[in-house]
Amino acid sequence: MSDLLALAEQAARQAYAPYSKFQVGCALETVAGGIYTGCNVENASYGLTICAERNAIFHAVTAEGPLMKIARLAVICPGHEFPPCGACRQVIAEFSQANDLAEIIFLHQGRPVTRTIAELLPEAFLIPS
Ligand code: THU
Repeated sequence: MSDLLALAEQAARQAYAPYSKFQVGCALETVAGGIYTGCNVENASYGLTICAERNAIFHAVTAEGPLMKIARLAVICPGHEFPPCGACRQVIAEFSQANDLAEIIFLHQGRPVTRTIAELLPEAFLIPS
């Protein structure tokens, strides 16, 4: 298992997911070399739930500021397997601008697979900075 997936698995243990019971964790490495994690945090008003990926990305922005760029990001949900949801793909793209090769790592049939954000979200809506 990749180093980032192991960190994401640790973060998943912190999840607040009393409704879905999906304990999701994310770990990312920035272009600057920082490592940040996040878990999903649900709410009784379901739409207020924040995914693990966006939680990790917002941690990274808080620490490194608005120029933060994602180099690699891993997501894991023990007992389930899925890539980042559509909303999170859009936010990953926002912080991968000029770095279409940002790597997204997730489990598929028990094995880590790696996709670029450009593969997961082709022709993304972005406003050039
Ligand atoms: N979830 C994530 O944290 N990341 C995703 O990419 C997909 C879904 C969370 C949101 C919610 O708490 C639970 O998983 C079920 O949708």
